[in-house]
Parts: sequence; C-alpha cells; structure tokens
Amino acid sequence: MSKSRIKYICSNCGYESLRWIGKCPSCESWNSFTEELVEEKKTSKRKFSGEINISKLNSTIHENEERIKTNIAELDRVLGGGLMPGSVVLIGGDPGIGKSTLVMQAAAKINLEVLYVTGEESVNQINLRAKRLNVNSDLAPGETSKISVMTETDLDIILSAIEKHAPEVVIVDSIQTTYKTNFENAPGTITQIRECTAELMQLAKKKHCAIVLIGHVTKDGMIAGPKVLEHIVDTVLQFEGERSYSYRILRAQKNRFGSTNEIGIFEMHDDGLHEVKNPSEIFLSEREKEISGSVVTSSMEGTRPILIEVQALVTPSAYGNPQRVATGFDYRRLSILLAVLEKRANMRLSSQNVFLNIAGGIRIEEPAVDLAVCCAIASSFSNKLAKNDIVVVGEVGLGGEVRSVSNIDKRIQEAAKLGFKKIIIPSNNFKSIKIKNTIEIIPIENLPSAIKNIFS
Ligand code: TYD
Ligand code: MG
Repeated sequence: MSKSRIKYICSNCGYESLRWIGKCPSCESWNSFTEELVEEKKTSKRKFSGEINISKLNSTIHENEERIKTNIAELDRVLGGGLMPGSVVLIGGDPGIGKSTLVMQAAAKINLEVLYVTGEESVNQINLRAKRLNVNSDLAPGETSKISVMTETDLDIILSAIEKHAPEVVIVDSIQTTYKTNFENAPGTITQIRECTAELMQLAKKKHCAIVLIGHVTKDGMIAGPKVLEHIVDTVLQFEGERSYSYRILRAQKNRFGSTNEIGIFEMHDDGLHEVKNPSEIFLSEREKEISGSVVTSSMEGTRPILIEVQALVTPSAYGNPQRVATGFDYRRLSILLAVLEKRANMRLSSQNVFLNIAGGIRIEEPAVDLAVCCAIASSFSNKLAKNDIVVVGEVGLGGEVRSVSNIDKRIQEAAKLGFKKIIIPSNNFKSIKIKNTIEIIPIENLPSAIKNIFS
C-alpha cells in the first residue's frame, strides 16, 4: 500500500518540508517552494535472496569503451572527447539560446542511430529546423535518415521506444516537458523531473546508449531543479551567451568523464551554429586601437589561451555615489582592484564612475586578467592610450604586487601568433619561460611599474 500526501519541495535544491516556507533553509533561495504530491511507499524489511554481483576493482575496465563522437570538435572537447555510452548529459541554457539547434546539428553529424524525442515542438517544426540546418541534404533519394523524430512527453512511451528501437543516442528536448502518468504532479515539477531523469539514467545504463537531456533555466539562470539533477546525471553543460551577440559559449559544470575547464565557442548564423576555431581573432576583430581604456589580455579558457579586449570607461561622478558596473567580470573583484589602484597607484577613483566591459560578451573568471583590468582603468582615468601592440597578464594582490599565472608559455605563444610585439608578465613567471625569442617580454613586479609600461 502506498499513500500520498502533500509536501512542499524546493524547486532549486529539492529540500522537502511539510509546510510552505518563503526561504529555503538548505540553499537559501527565496520563493522556491512548490506544492507537490508525494507518494510514500510503505517500507518493509526485506532480505534479498538472489545472486549478487560484486567484482574486483580493476576487472571492470572496458578497454574498448569507445566514445561516441558528435563530430563537432567544440562540443566533443567540452564533453571530454565525445558522448560516453551509458551516460546522461544535461544541457541547460536560456530559452532561444540555441540548445535545440546544437543537439540537432550534433544528431546530424553522429554516425549512429539517433532518436530525437521532443515535447516542445511538432514534427513539422523539427523538419523545418533540420532543413534550415541542411541536415540530411546529402541523403540520396530513397535513403532514410538515421535520425528518428518522436513527439512525446509521456516517459513510459519514450522508455519503450528506446527499448524497442535501441538507438545509440537519445535526445530528450526537454526534460521539463516529460512526465510520468502515475504521478499526479504536473510536468516540470521537481518530483517529475527527478523521477524521469532517474529512469532515463537507468535505461541508459541498461541499454548502453548515450542520453542527452535538454533542461530549461530558471529566472536566476539555473537549470530548473539543478542540484537535484546535477547529482543524478553524469555531465552538466551550460549553453550561454548574450542575445545581442551571436557568440555562444558551452561550458561544462560537471563532468564525470572529462575536465570542467574546457569551453566550446560557437557563432549563431542563419544556417545554424558555426564552430569558432580561433576565438582570439574574433574577439579582437572589432577593437578600436586609438582609444584610451582598452587593453588586451590573454585568458586561459580550459586548455586554450584566448586573447580578449578589456575596456574601461572612467568618468567623474556628478552625484555623491559613483557607479560601478562590470560586464563579463566579477563585480566584487572590480571593487577590490579599484581599492588597490587607489591605495597602491595613487589614483583618486572614489569620485569616479567606473564601467568595465569584457568585449565580445564573454565572461572571465580568471585572476590572471586582474592586471589588464587595472591597466585599462588607469588608461581611461588618465585618458592616455595604452600601446596597442601589448598584451598584459598577471594577478594583482592586495599589496599591489603582481603574482604569477599559470600556462605562461601558451599565453605568450598566442600573443605572438596574433602579431603582438610585447607582453607584460609577472616577474616570477619569467624564470620558467621556455620560449623566449618570439616576442618582447617585459617582466614586472608591481602594479605601478606595469602601468608605466603600457603607455607609449
Ligand atoms: P533554438 O535552438 O530553438 O533555442 P532553444 O532550443 O535553446 O530554445 O534556437 C532559437 C534561436 O536561434 C532563434 O531565436 C533563432 C535562432 N536560429 C538562428 O539564428 N539560426 C538557425 O539556423 C536556427 C535554427 C536558429
Ligand atoms: Mg528548444
């Protein structure tokens, strides 16, 4: 016998409560509790009397566990080399960012049977998109596509379709629209999402197929029910970008089969997403050289160095409270760097508005861009041009000292490759450089000497 009763569940982290509460005690999000019907199973002690399989640790290695290549290099790299059979990947992102487009393009390039399950669009809409993306355009007359499309939201039907057709890759667009009929909760509620994902996960293991789930994002930019899902699935990818830019960035938030440092960069065109193979050229293509407040830095995105323009605009504040706005950069980090500039480089910034922008709509988390941020602010503040053939890297400490950064050789190489003549680096990095003759290297110890070096 099972009885059901109402519980309140946090849609962010899955915390359960018997009454409604405004703020989740577990993840501290507000207004995230939704009323859900929870079936409680009667627990009875049971003893298992069948055969139990336990194996020794190293006897379970499958030497020939081949990854399924999506043949989209940027996607494969973020996945850690391709889709792992038997695993579940969750792709999250804002509506209209291009999730369905990405998975459709991947489906077209995978050389295996793919089942595309959608609860969001009609078959006709899928066909229209496929046509727009030139999927199957090389198909000979009479030849059938290896992509099967199914519009279904009932999980049990989806599961039996996977059992019956045994595709190697399954795409479910989206997990929020799928539901199990034996739960009375509406599709998209935590209970439904959790149950559906868990069952798909089990089937992926059983049938040894790769399942890609598309997940919606809540207003705070989190995948709905993220904590709950993150624990269940093997890999979580975020597809992000600004609507007004055509760039899209794919990041791994969790990856059981690869690193979470890698990013994939795409550009949205009329005929779908194009891979961006040399991001630096694109991020610098619109750079205005004769303008103060613009400094180029080299940021590591995963294993790749990317040259990025940091722009600052410093203006006197007419009102008491100066504004500080950071786009693509951590706001708190900006406040710290402003304090360091004020104290260690004698810049009176407390009465100035400071606007900081990382060009191209990219977001940087790395401390190695600190020095470039400080230099851009110094350049705009003093209204002097920074040399336009120079790249600046270094982490800035609270004492105004410049600290060493990782992967210095790769950063220098990328700067040299794109025709820059000089690079400012932390002096502690200078000893470890292996390539020295490519470009002029200026080792510096502190913030004031870096600022001196960037002006012509
Ligand atoms: P879509 O993949 O439907 O987004 P999601 O599944 O994340 O909601 O992409 C929708 C947007 O992408 C839409 O605004 C139109 C644009 N788009 C293009 O610019 N070019 C294309 O070839 C396609 C298919 C979509
Ligand atoms: Mg979609």
